This record gives sequence, structure tokens and C-alpha cells, in this order.
Amino acid sequence: MSSDRHRYAITGRRPLSGAVEVAGAKNAVTKLLVATLLTEDPCTISGVPKIAEVGIVLGMLADLGTGIEWVDDRTVRLTTRHIATASLSEAYSGVNRIPILMMGPLLHRAGETTIPLPGGCRIGKRPIDFHLAGLRAMGAQITEQPRSVSVKVAADGLRAAHITLPYPSVGATENLLLSAVLARGTTIIDNAAVEPEIMDLILMLQQMGALVSVEVDRRIVIEGVPRLRGASHRPLPDRIEVASFAAAAVATGGRIEVIGAVQEHVATFLNYLRKVGGEFEVTSRGLAFYQARELTPVPVQTDVHPGYMTDWQQPLVVLLTQASGASVIHETVYENRFGYAEQLNAMGAGIALSTACLGGKACRFALRDFQHSAVVIGPTPLRAGPLEIPDLRAGFAYIMAALIADGTSVITGTRYLERGYEDPAGKLRSVGAAIETIPV
Ligand code: EPU
Repeated sequence: MSSDRHRYAITGRRPLSGAVEVAGAKNAVTKLLVATLLTEDPCTISGVPKIAEVGIVLGMLADLGTGIEWVDDRTVRLTTRHIATASLSEAYSGVNRIPILMMGPLLHRAGETTIPLPGGCRIGKRPIDFHLAGLRAMGAQITEQPRSVSVKVAADGLRAAHITLPYPSVGATENLLLSAVLARGTTIIDNAAVEPEIMDLILMLQQMGALVSVEVDRRIVIEGVPRLRGASHRPLPDRIEVASFAAAAVATGGRIEVIGAVQEHVATFLNYLRKVGGEFEVTSRGLAFYQARELTPVPVQTDVHPGYMTDWQQPLVVLLTQASGASVIHETVYENRFGYAEQLNAMGAGIALSTACLGGKACRFALRDFQHSAVVIGPTPLRAGPLEIPDLRAGFAYIMAALIADGTSVITGTRYLERGYEDPAGKLRSVGAAIETIPV
């Protein structure tokens, strides 16, 4: 991964007030870009967020032969008349999880592909076994190398299959969707993930001519069609960015209106925000967030949609350091998503980690020695400190910690944050944060 463009110096204890505009969802737009590979026709994606991750995925598509034309600064038209090369460089190994989603489209277009492996990351091992088992069931022949995976399919292409996912994985569901829309026959995915970002991908595929139905009990049925056509689509707003600014508004005792935020996308988050002491209002432009009363603790268990999402966990933990009493957070989606707590404790927070499934039912990580539960004792004043961001979502937690801490915190590892948040420093400054960017 590239290096930081700058560090942030944040001076805390200022209430944030004003309005910010939510960007298009990172975890939707990147998949919409992959979907454009399924057709020779032009596809137009509008409302594209200005985040590093989009640039990385566009670079991958350009390598494969996609023509990329910016219509305006947020609208991109992509046309893949021919696949120039059906394989992506191993240099992309470990970069992100997008190449594995290209397997199905590239098999349909070229019959074979070699794709770099995503690798583990700081939040967990993140294997791709569900992806590969699903593709094998659809007739793909797969050879795994240390940093890449080679896949090919017989001349008559991928065939439908009935696949039951061991866990409702977002990526595996998307992978199978992107593979099944052009496969022969009707594919059934049971125990599928149904996150709003997946629904967004389904809407784009439907526009392209696909037949996908989302049925009860996590079943998705895909009737393969012979051909897909171009489409124009705008990704849904980023519900993780909305929750991040909401938590920052409440934690600093301010009021932030997030323009473009949609209540339905954050309904579960809003319940917890209210239980902690935050409030929201539906405005003519989006949602406004503020602190309504003294903050109180809550028990929270992260889960797949429609549960409390794992990417909302980190801002909430920082908020809970300011609540009076003990909160329990049980992370059930990733085994290792509390690594960031240590630096918060160094700032004065009282967060204790546990390998037990605290405050909820036993999860996949029970008895497996992963520190996946946390007890947060508050309220604890925070002192400014040097902070090194370990991953994207921990990054916003550190921003929040710096915003409520006494003194000036210097934050490095900002490249992780800027992968997925659009202009975080500029948006925070626009609502009154004392944040300085220092070039490195
Ligand atoms: N899993 C497996 N095998 C697989 C696939 C997943 O064991 O083949 C496990 C994972 O290790 C994890 C769980 O299943 O424990 C859930 O993983 P999932 O596949 O649902 O996650 P993902 O598709 O890799 C996306 C987002 C994440 C977000 C999760 C959950 C993208 C690019 N990433 O990851 O976003 O946390 O869904 O909602 O869409 C982020 O934006 O910072 C981020 C990490």
C-alpha cells in the first residue's frame, strides 16, 4: 500500500456543528464498477465518491481493457468492448478484495483468468473459501497459487448451482451474483447476505437485464440470461460515513446534518444512538444528529444486515468511552476488530478485551481464542496522543478520539482513512473541527 500523503493534527474539545454531504458508498460503488465488465455496452456510474479505493479499482479495470471516460467530476462512463487481458497483475495481491469479484465476469468474457489474492488484513484472516467453493459448484476449475488464483471454465461457460453459504458473506454473495447472472440455468444462493449495498448491485444488474429475486429467509434466486446490456446507476449513500459523522456529532456535543443520509439505511444504528443518548431528526436534506442527554452505556452485538453492522462498531466504542457505566460490545463478524483499543487506552480510555462471547449469544468465534468482545468503562476523559491508524474503520475511531481529547493529537496512517472516506479532513474542518493536514 502507498504511503501517507499527510498527517493530521487535531485539537480536541470543540463541538462539531454544521452540514456535510454524504458520499456514494465505497462498498457499493466498487462492486458496480466490477459489474460493468459483464457487458460490452457502456455503463455510467454517477455520484462516484472521491476516495482512493475508486482510483485503485479503475486502474485494475483499465489494465483489463476497460475504456474509462469521466463525464463530470462524479460521473464515469465505462466501456469494455473487449477484454485486453483476462488476468490481473500479482502486484495487486493484498491490495483489496475487488479482484476476486472479477472472476465470474472474466470467466464469462474470456473463459479463464488469473486473479491476485486479497491476503489477510489487520481485522482478521478474511479467507475466500466460500467464493471458491461457490465457483467450483458452478463448474469453474480453480488452481490456487501462493499470491494468486487461476480459474478456467469449459467452452459452454459457468452453469447454475444451488449454493448454501456457511455464513452470509457479503463478498461471496456478490461474487456468486456476478457469476450467476450470465450462467446457464437458475442459481440459488441460500444463507445469502442482504446488505443494502448488495441490493444496490442487484438493482444495477436488473437494469442491465438480469433476473434476480431476493426471497424470504436469505435466499437469492438468479435466472441466468444470455446477455446483459449497459446501464446508468448511482450508488446508495455511504451508511458507514453517515454513522461516523453522527457519532462524531454526539461525542462532541454538537449537531451535524448529513445531507443525503437516508433513515432506512441506518435504522438499526439510530436505535443504538438513541439508547446511548444521541438523537436524530429527518430534515429536508437528510438527517441531523445531536446529543439529547447525558450518555449512558449499552450492550451491542455486531451482525450481518439487518443487525448492527461491524463497520459501525468503532465510532460507537469511542462514543461509549464518554458514557457513564459499563458497555459490552460483542463483535461477531470479524475475529480481530478491536486491535485499535490499545491506543485508545493509552489516551485514557478504559477498554478491556475478552475472548468470551460477552453480552450475547455464542458466535462463530466462541472458544477460539480471539479477543472479539470488549467492555468499555466510562466516562473517561481522553488525553491527546500520537495515533497510528491500523485500518480504515479504526481510522475514524481515532479521529473521533482526537476530537474529544484534551490537547492536540497527531495522526499517522491517514492513507487507510482516505481509502474509504471522502476528504475526511475537509469535511471535518467544514463543521468546525480544528484539523490541520501536514504534508509528509
Ligand atoms: N468469510 C469466510 N470465508 C469467505 C468469505 C468470508 O470465512 O470466503 C468470513 C470473513 O472472514 C468474515 C465474515 O465471513 O469473518 C464476513 O465477511 P464478508 O465476506 O461478509 O466481508 P467482505 O465482503 O470481505 C465487506 C466489506 C467490509 C464489511 C463486510 C461486512 C467490502 C469491500 N468490504 O467485506 O467493509 O465490513 O463486508 O459488512 O465491501 C470496510 O469498508 O472497512 C470493510 C471492511
